[in-house]
Amino acid sequence: MLLNICNSKTKKVLAAAVFASLLQGVVIATPVFAEAVATSETTASQETSTSEATVTQVPKQSKAKAADNTVALPDTTEQNEIDHSAEFKPVQNEFLKEGEGIPGSEVPYQNERSLSNEEWKAIDSLEKDIRILQREREEFFKNRAKEKEEKEKAFTNAFKNRQEYSIVFNPDDYSTKTMDANGEPVTFRAYEHLVYVKKPYDPESQMLSIFIPEAYLKGGTINGFTAETAPIFMPNGVGGYMPGQIVEPREESRHGGANAALYALSNGYVVVSPAIRGRSLKHENGYETGKAPALIVDYKAAVRFVRFNRKAGRIPAGDTEKIISSGTSAGGALSALLGATGNAKDYVPYLKEAGAAKERDDIFASMAYCPITNLENADMAYEWMFHNANEYYNAGPARRVPPTANSASPVGAVQDRPANAPVEAAKGTAITPEQKEISAELKEKFTEYLNDLNLRDSLGNRLNLAPDGYGLFREYIESLYLEAAQNAIDTGEDVSKTSWLTVSDGTAVHMDFDKYVATVKRLKGVPAFDAFDMTSGENNEFGTYDIPNKHFTRYALEHSQLVTVPKEEEEKEIAEEKARQYNLASPVEKRQLRKANLEEQMEKDKLDLSQYMANGRVIKMMNPMRYIGNPDVQTAPHWRIRHGVLDRDTALAIPAMLAVKLKNNDKAVDFKVAWGYGHAGDYDLPELFAWTDRICKIKDKADAILKEEQKKAKAKEQE
Ligand code: DHB
Repeated sequence: MLLNICNSKTKKVLAAAVFASLLQGVVIATPVFAEAVATSETTASQETSTSEATVTQVPKQSKAKAADNTVALPDTTEQNEIDHSAEFKPVQNEFLKEGEGIPGSEVPYQNERSLSNEEWKAIDSLEKDIRILQREREEFFKNRAKEKEEKEKAFTNAFKNRQEYSIVFNPDDYSTKTMDANGEPVTFRAYEHLVYVKKPYDPESQMLSIFIPEAYLKGGTINGFTAETAPIFMPNGVGGYMPGQIVEPREESRHGGANAALYALSNGYVVVSPAIRGRSLKHENGYETGKAPALIVDYKAAVRFVRFNRKAGRIPAGDTEKIISSGTSAGGALSALLGATGNAKDYVPYLKEAGAAKERDDIFASMAYCPITNLENADMAYEWMFHNANEYYNAGPARRVPPTANSASPVGAVQDRPANAPVEAAKGTAITPEQKEISAELKEKFTEYLNDLNLRDSLGNRLNLAPDGYGLFREYIESLYLEAAQNAIDTGEDVSKTSWLTVSDGTAVHMDFDKYVATVKRLKGVPAFDAFDMTSGENNEFGTYDIPNKHFTRYALEHSQLVTVPKEEEEKEIAEEKARQYNLASPVEKRQLRKANLEEQMEKDKLDLSQYMANGRVIKMMNPMRYIGNPDVQTAPHWRIRHGVLDRDTALAIPAMLAVKLKNNDKAVDFKVAWGYGHAGDYDLPELFAWTDRICKIKDKADAILKEEQKKAKAKEQE
């Protein structure tokens, strides 16, 4: 082999290097999970490090640039192929790699010069065995890859002849409608049910409607906006990670009065509302078509459709530099994801495959009510907040339930849960001692994750936590609840019955966290999201075209009721012990250890973890936290995030971390806990649209000033 032709000096150097990597290889022998959670921007060295292979991994922070309108089209940049198979690639440890040289044979160690003939013979024989095993192993992986390729091909072929649609907007195909928006008539044009990708997997779920105030088509002005400057409001109707319907303008909504779409129209916004694929979608050919990341691919495709057609003048109104997304719960998560991931390359192959327009997909502002986001860290956050609760009230995984105005709830004030949210039970279920232990473990893990995020408050203090769960971040969370209480007090609400709140002289001064938890009660079991029996809505969201449910955290995978996988911590210890033994072993023993380890590894290889665990890149593509601060991504500059004071569908820590991370990356964030609300959205439309009006008008003013300056500069130049 290559090493045999080196001179002896090089051999020694190489031997040392190989040995070093070998030792490292022993240590990294076990984390077959690294690939599943590796981000696309991890470096080569990170990819093989065990610490990187944990659910708590976060991408490196870096300063984000402000949204840049001149950004190159993402389609022109390097792309990755879609990995339909969600392949869970085992880490090839250096110990086992073919062609790396085997210490002692190709690369003799000095202390091996004195080996006896018998010892050399044994070494030769063992190395022969090792080479045979290595080839066997390679063959095994080749065959598995082939099998997967064939499966993927069958999937691709099943959709090869799907109908193609034009994504060129037809301005002549509309109807004119008039509706009553809180007492004011609003006339608008409705361009309805337009498929927004050329090659939809499910046309019904991949179409959008555009509503434009009629006034703009006659040169009119509404709320200070014109056809040119009207912001584009893009709500999504996703809930429970289920398929989202088009949000039609409606005169009556849950919280009374016009719904968000009609409210927006009456305030001079152009409304674009896409239907979006969700986790329950199944094609008649049997393949799943709405699994992650389908929903964000669709939302982005809809944004691209609007830019593509508006820029060409086909859509007659709306400013594509003022696109504002909105959603509630899973829809809030989706809105946040759209806002965070503008033009991110990860999604490009999916967008291409769906036949999305070649356009930018960054937006101006993202609004999220109670976002069920950061899913791979949500279990830890939940236990950090709700560990002390002794029962939970979840009646089962999220499933379609008819939306009711006042669904039964264990907490009187928690009403009208969105359609597709998990169903609440009237009676609690006791948390078992085993679950309590799991909870404690997750709770502590949360502090590690949180601390790794390196979040800072507005004064620059690190929002961290001690392993016991106390620290500045907890104080920050409490301050959010107190701020909500204070706002309620200031608007004349009676908060005297709030048992967990201490008010002194009209000031909300203290909250009792345990009392809070006891009052609002814990909705979800342990763990809250990645269920050990894989029955949660989120498990269903992370399925693939061929497998409906998957885990998306290493922790749940290790505790899965469906598969037994080695625990990372234990594996690490075993690997370290192996490395120690290897270090001390004689040359013959070293070969024996290598052979035994290889055989052991081959036994483990038989378990294809990709059947049980979501692809790491897909997990990343569902999490806005993983994109904020990435210099290649255009994250929306404006954010509005709300979480109800009584919401227990996810921990307040989840939207709080999102908000702080955004702020730390120089985004403008309006983040508040809303008094009196549980898991709900769109309950404060006047405030919401006052906020959008403000940010849009500031932008328009700034743009006008900039334009004027440029004009002046040009004039000066020409003088
Ligand atoms: C929703 C609620 C949940 O509790 C959840 O886990 C996922 C989605 C929702 O209402 O959309």
